[in-house]
Amino acid sequence: MSHFYYRGGSLWCDGVDVAALMREYGSPLYVYSSEAIVQSCREIESACGETPHLVYYAVKANANREILKLIAAQGLGADIGSGGELYLALQAGFKPTSITFSGVGKRDDEIAMAVDAGILAFNVESRQELEAIEAVAASRGTKARVLLRVNLDIDAGGHRYISTSLKHNKFGVPWHHAEEELTYAMTLPHIEVGGIHSHVGSQITNRDVFHRAARRIVGLVRELRASGIPMEDLDFGGGFAVRYHGFLRDPGLPEEPHESEDLTAPEAIRSLIPVLTDAGCRISFQPGRSIIAQAGALLVTVLYRKQMDKKTFVIVDGGMNDLIRPSLYGSHHQIVPTRLQGAPHEMADVVGPVCESGDFFAQDRPLPRVQRGDGLAVLCAGAYGFVVSSNYNARLRVAEVMVEGSTARVVRPRETYADL
Ligand code: LLP
Repeated sequence: MSHFYYRGGSLWCDGVDVAALMREYGSPLYVYSSEAIVQSCREIESACGETPHLVYYAVKANANREILKLIAAQGLGADIGSGGELYLALQAGFKPTSITFSGVGKRDDEIAMAVDAGILAFNVESRQELEAIEAVAASRGTKARVLLRVNLDIDAGGHRYISTSLKHNKFGVPWHHAEEELTYAMTLPHIEVGGIHSHVGSQITNRDVFHRAARRIVGLVRELRASGIPMEDLDFGGGFAVRYHGFLRDPGLPEEPHESEDLTAPEAIRSLIPVLTDAGCRISFQPGRSIIAQAGALLVTVLYRKQMDKKTFVIVDGGMNDLIRPSLYGSHHQIVPTRLQGAPHEMADVVGPVCESGDFFAQDRPLPRVQRGDGLAVLCAGAYGFVVSSNYNARLRVAEVMVEGSTARVVRPRETYADL
């Protein structure tokens, strides 16, 4: 069940009317359902079943401290991509032994911070990075555990910016170099080889992509083990899709047909487990989007309507600096009024105040007609939303509010001009 729904024509998030939130905390505003977050953590965890496994939340999807605390309390681990994310994950209560560190460009000081914290593993992406980790671990007289990230050369489909496992992408080492790199890693006195890692992309809606990747990595694990390389952990990464089109259905809303097959994270995980367990490893996943995307919405207010020769523009107070996904990837986010009053539908562009033509949330979109002062909710904005926001145009970063049942609290205050 969606945690955003209409009750008597008003949009609610769990037990709270979102228009009341906008009145109390201002606009634009990010709002999250804590119940939705807990539910997605539980569904993903239970999809893993009895197989020995670990689920690491990809902190990059949303690094709000209170959200991290909530996810840590569900017993998940954390996959971090920077020293800042490590700092936040530790503060939120993730145990160091359930933290992995991914990313192609780890700095020495970040590696040192992670070695000192005693994280479970570095997902290492190059020979030079391996040597940097060896040097840091040596300087501290300790060992660092590594999984090698392999580039499986699999086309994950979707936007080219979020496909990560094609051979021209920067991520991982080519899978056919894995044996050479791991054999070298085993000669390093301060490195402990723990297994293998891959992450083929994000918002993957095609089951076959996951399965091709799984078969390739399982075959590789078998070969590597046969060559005497320890293969304890197989970390399959994240990338599970969520439904953006037609997330909220109501007779008063325009229909939004799904663009692609619906494959939820629990479904994908359930179908992957039998394939991956053949590798004889502990299996792990790093979901980001599938935990937090649908739990959050960006609430904005209509500033103006503007009729041009060929277009109707609905100009709102939130912009690309608050949520860049439509501008950067052409991503679709369903946009719905906070008050559904039987207005006729019209075709409109929903645009922000930023001085760029690329500053839009939707183009040529059927929407119930809205007026100056009306509220709109940009749905499924919990992942890669606030975390990617900026101060472009010297705009203040907005507040984030967490709904907990029928109450709400600010989990990040709105910036003020003094913060600029
Ligand atoms: N693990 C690694 C190593 C990653 O790089 C990522 C995401 C994840 C896990 C989590 O993937 P997820 O389950 O969220 O798909 N900003 C883009 C998405 C970028 C994904 C970056 N890496 C967007 O808004 O669609």
